[in-house]
Amino acid sequence: MNSTEELKFKHSRVNGIVFQPFFTKERLHEIKNYPTRNGDVFIVSYPKSGTMWVTQIVKQIAKPSMPVGIEEKDIIGGTVAFWEFNTPDKLEALPSPRYMYTHLPYTMLPHNSEQNLKYIVVARNPRDVAVSYFNFMRVVNHFEWDGHWDEFFDYFMQGNVPFGSYFDRVLEWWEHRNEPNVLFLKYEDLKKDTEGQIQRIAQFLGYNLSAEEINNIREKTTFSAMKSDPTTNMDQYADKIYKKETQFSFMRKGIVGDWQNYFSEKQLEELNKLYDLKMSKSGLEFEFT
Ligand code: PPS
Repeated sequence: MNSTEELKFKHSRVNGIVFQPFFTKERLHEIKNYPTRNGDVFIVSYPKSGTMWVTQIVKQIAKPSMPVGIEEKDIIGGTVAFWEFNTPDKLEALPSPRYMYTHLPYTMLPHNSEQNLKYIVVARNPRDVAVSYFNFMRVVNHFEWDGHWDEFFDYFMQGNVPFGSYFDRVLEWWEHRNEPNVLFLKYEDLKKDTEGQIQRIAQFLGYNLSAEEINNIREKTTFSAMKSDPTTNMDQYADKIYKKETQFSFMRKGIVGDWQNYFSEKQLEELNKLYDLKMSKSGLEFEFT
């Protein structure tokens, strides 16, 4: 499927990549040229990979503050701002070091070796990403889509979902994983060894935390803690983002292995084939349960 017309959800396509309908070529060009600052930190991910979780961990570690006179709700994401969804003046107002998150492809992000920009990359196994993305896209109003899993699965396999191919996005960062300003995390490791991964993030950001501090951060960023906290469960954005009738919670399940409730045998076979084709030479592996 190449033609945009065949996708049933509202979208745009820039440089061959599907985006939300409001991302035009001009807008993405403007975002690519947003000014960066020495020490800027980006949390980078393919959607539904645990971005908000890492964002909360970073907030707990670095405790970034809002600029005087601006409230958290005035900047999307607050002290860890959503790069491509905020205007440059809002991002400009954030004190250094700035913390931002993004789903944009590697080539659409700023890179400047003179500015010590840091990238925390978070990736999740494609089966659970697909399921999480399907549940999300059905309820987000601007897509005007409420298709079924089988339809979404085909879009996902073709890379015809917002921000493009899962495999392209994950592998383009995996190639850079050994660079000193890149930290590559996996959602499944965060689940399995949360404290170890919090320690990695802290060290990468230049913080030396005690075991007690790390444990505190773990407790504040568990799935249930984030789900019950109105400042972290994303409910504040619900009216703007979701269709009116939906009961959707951004903090949906937060587990490894929900794919088992969605994939048919044939779909699993298809995805495994593509996974092997794309990933086998890369050395990148995920756990699925
Ligand atoms: S987004 O919209 O792209 O920014 O979404 P993102 O934050 O990347 O991913 C959302 C999924 O992450 C799960 N999540 C968590 N899992 C475990 N622990 C914690 N603390 C946590 N916080 C968020 C969230 O539930 C989404 O996954 P699913 O599978 O849909 O539940």
